[in-house]
Amino acid sequence: MKIFLDTSDVEVIRQHSETGMIDGVTTNPTLMMQSGRDPIDVIKDISALFSDDSSISAEVVADTAEEMISQAKQYYSISSNITIKVPCTEEGLKVCKFLSDKGIPVNVTLIFSTTQAILCAKAGAKYVSPFIGRCEDNGLSGIGLIESIRTIYDRSNIGHPPEILAASIRTTDHVTNAFIAGTDIVTLPPSILKEMYKHDLTDQGIDQFDKDWKKVNHK
Ligand code: G3P
Repeated sequence: MKIFLDTSDVEVIRQHSETGMIDGVTTNPTLMMQSGRDPIDVIKDISALFSDDSSISAEVVADTAEEMISQAKQYYSISSNITIKVPCTEEGLKVCKFLSDKGIPVNVTLIFSTTQAILCAKAGAKYVSPFIGRCEDNGLSGIGLIESIRTIYDRSNIGHPPEILAASIRTTDHVTNAFIAGTDIVTLPPSILKEMYKHDLTDQGIDQFDKDWKKVNHK
């Protein structure tokens, strides 16, 4: 059961990483644009906050496999905790196979079907990222997709199938249901991670305990 943060905000990542409960980070071109910084610098800063066995996904953006590989080289030379993120296209999967054969971990993103997830497994992906929220935006069941991918991977004869990394998570129910459906990892916007801590009954309980504690005779 792993939790990743889905953001390029280094300060926010630093704060949450101090809890010791964050296993990795995913970024994408939109999140990089929001950071307003050079993506290489952002990935360097994030990578430095985590141990070597963490996973920091850095996404390549190009039309051809050759261009993607050249961008990937810049990223994976930063640290051994870098995972190269590629889109689930024919070119992206070529890159996935090429890098995976060299032992470089790859996260294939923008997964919306089980057949895409099957190809990712064949290409040696370390992670596949089904997009739950965006499935639902388009009338598809994101949780159902995770369930199906889980079943297929568990029944396959692939020694190490990809880890399922549930992305595009918009609610805490997505988190719960993704794990029930068999995801290995969820990647969360920081706002959803914050919500996971909260329950009204916890707040009410603390209020009551605080009031009662003040009435206790301290020696
Ligand atoms: O990890 C992918 C995620 O950032 C996309 O989320 O909410 O834009 O679909 P969303």
